[in-house]
Amino acid sequence: MTHQLFIDGAYCDAASGQVFDVVDPSNRQVFAQVARGGAEDIDRAVTAARRAFDHGPWPRMSGAERAAVLRRMGDTIAARRDELARVEVQDNGKPLPEALWDIDDTAGVFHFYADLAERLDNAAVQDITLSVEGFTSKAVKEPVGVAGAIIPWNFPMLMASWKVAPALAAGCTVVLKPSELTPLTALELGRIAADAGLPAGALNIVTGFGPEAGQPLTEHPGVDKLAFTGSVPTGSRIMATAARDIKTVSLELGGKSPLVVFADTPIDEAVEWILFGIFWNQGEVCSATSRVLVEAPIYDALLARLTEEAQKIRIGHGLQDGVLLGPLVSPSQHEKVLAAIKRGKAEGRLVTGGGVPEGLEAGCYIQPTIFADMAEDSWIWREEIFGPVVCIKPFTSEADAIRMANDSRFGLAAAVMSADLDRAERVARAFRAGIVWINCSQPTFTEAPWGGYKQSGIGRELGEWGLNNYLETKQITTWDRHRPWGWYLKD
Ligand code: NAI
Ligand code: MG
Repeated sequence: MTHQLFIDGAYCDAASGQVFDVVDPSNRQVFAQVARGGAEDIDRAVTAARRAFDHGPWPRMSGAERAAVLRRMGDTIAARRDELARVEVQDNGKPLPEALWDIDDTAGVFHFYADLAERLDNAAVQDITLSVEGFTSKAVKEPVGVAGAIIPWNFPMLMASWKVAPALAAGCTVVLKPSELTPLTALELGRIAADAGLPAGALNIVTGFGPEAGQPLTEHPGVDKLAFTGSVPTGSRIMATAARDIKTVSLELGGKSPLVVFADTPIDEAVEWILFGIFWNQGEVCSATSRVLVEAPIYDALLARLTEEAQKIRIGHGLQDGVLLGPLVSPSQHEKVLAAIKRGKAEGRLVTGGGVPEGLEAGCYIQPTIFADMAEDSWIWREEIFGPVVCIKPFTSEADAIRMANDSRFGLAAAVMSADLDRAERVARAFRAGIVWINCSQPTFTEAPWGGYKQSGIGRELGEWGLNNYLETKQITTWDRHRPWGWYLKD
C-alpha cells in the first residue's frame, strides 16, 4: 500500500513522484510505501499553512470553536484505538499494550488541548496595572503563526499529538514532518483532522527523510516556529538553522537519566521501577532510566534480583500475548545498539543479555542488557544508547549520589527512591533535570511540564507550558485622550 502526503486538506503524491519503504522491524520486511517528500513539497505545505494562517478561518475562530474540532479529532482517535495501535506495533515494533497506551494518550492530548483552547477565550487577555496614570494596558496572547514540527519514531502518533494539538489549540497552523522510520499513524492525522472539520491548510503532513524534508522545513522563511524532538546533533543543527531567521525553537532531546535508590527502599519496588524504566518501549525512550545508582548496602542483592527478573522478560512480536519487549525500531537502530553493547563489554562487566535472542534473528530484537563495574568516565555510562541497556553503579553517600547523577551533559529526567520523603525531596531539588520522579520512574502526564535542562533541550511541552510554546504575547496600551499630553504641541 502506498501512502501520500497531506497538503492543503488533501492527500497527494510527492512532487518527485518518489516513494520510500516502510519496514516492519519484527521481520525486516517492507509492508508499505510512503511518499518521499522533498523541498518542493515542503514549500507547498508551508505555503498552504501560511495562507491558512494569514487569511483562513482557523486563527480567527474562537477557542471554543477550535476546541470542538480538536475534541472530534480526539474522539476519532479513541474510536480507532485498536486499529491505530496495531499499525504502531507493525511500524515501530512496540508491544500492543504499550501501543494502546500511546493511542489512548494521543486521544487524551487532543481532549486536553481542546479544553485549553476553550479556556483561552477568557485567558488570552490579561489586564496590566500601570504605575502611570492616564494609560491602560493589557497583554494579549496570540498564535505564533506557522509551526514546523519534526518528530522521532519512538512514540510516532503520541509525539505528533504533543506538537499538533497545542499548536492547533493556540490557533497556529502546522507542517508536520514525521520520522521516516514510522510515518504511518502520524499521516492518518490528516484524514482525522479533515473529518473533524479542520480547515484546509491548518495541518499539513510531509513524510520524508531528515535532510530532504526536515531540513527544508527548518530553512523555510514562511515558518515562524520550530518544534523538534529527537537527537542532540539534529537538534543543534535545527537551532543553528533557526538562528538565521530568528525562528522560535523548542527542543526535546536526549538523555542519560539516573535513578538513585537509597537502601531504605524495598528491593522489589526498586527492581520493578528499574525494569519499567529501562525496558518499556525497548528502552527507546528519551527519559529512559539508563543509569541506576544504588546505595552500597543493598547493591549486591538488588543487582542479583534485577538480573533474575530481566532474564524472565518475555521477548517477541508485539502482538503476542504477554510480550514485554518487542524488536527495536529498525535494522540501523539494532546495529547501533549492538555496537554500543560491544563497546560496553570493553568498558565494564556484562551482567546479563547483550545479544540477539535465539530464534528471533529475523527481527531487530535485543535481550534486556545490564552492565556493571564501568568507570564514571566510560562511554557506556555517559552516552545515550536508546535501547534496552542499563548501567548500574553503587554509591556510599547522598552527596556522592547527587554528584554522580548530575555529572552528565544531559538533564532530561531523574528519579529517586527512598522511604524518607524529606530526603527524597532534597535529592529531587538537587537534580539538574527537567522531570523528576520520586519513588517511581517514567509515568508521564499530559497536564505536567515535560522537557530538559542542559543539552536535553529548550522549553517545555505538555500542560499549559505546551500551549505557551505556540503563543506570542502582545502588549496593547491605550492613552486616555481626554487628558492633556502636549509634549511637542504646546497650547
Ligand atoms: P534524529 O534526531 O536524526 O531524527 C529525528 C527527526 O529529525 C526525524 O524526523 C528526522 O527525519 C529528522 N531530521 C533528521 N535530520 C534532520 C535535519 N538535518 N533537519 C531537520 N530534520 C531532521 O534521530 P534518528 O536518526 O531517528 O535517531 C538517531 C538517534 O537519536 C537514536 O539512536 C537515539 O539515540 C536518538 N533519538 C532520541 C530521541 C529522543 O526522543 N530523545 C528520539 C529519536 C532518536
Ligand atoms: Mg517502521
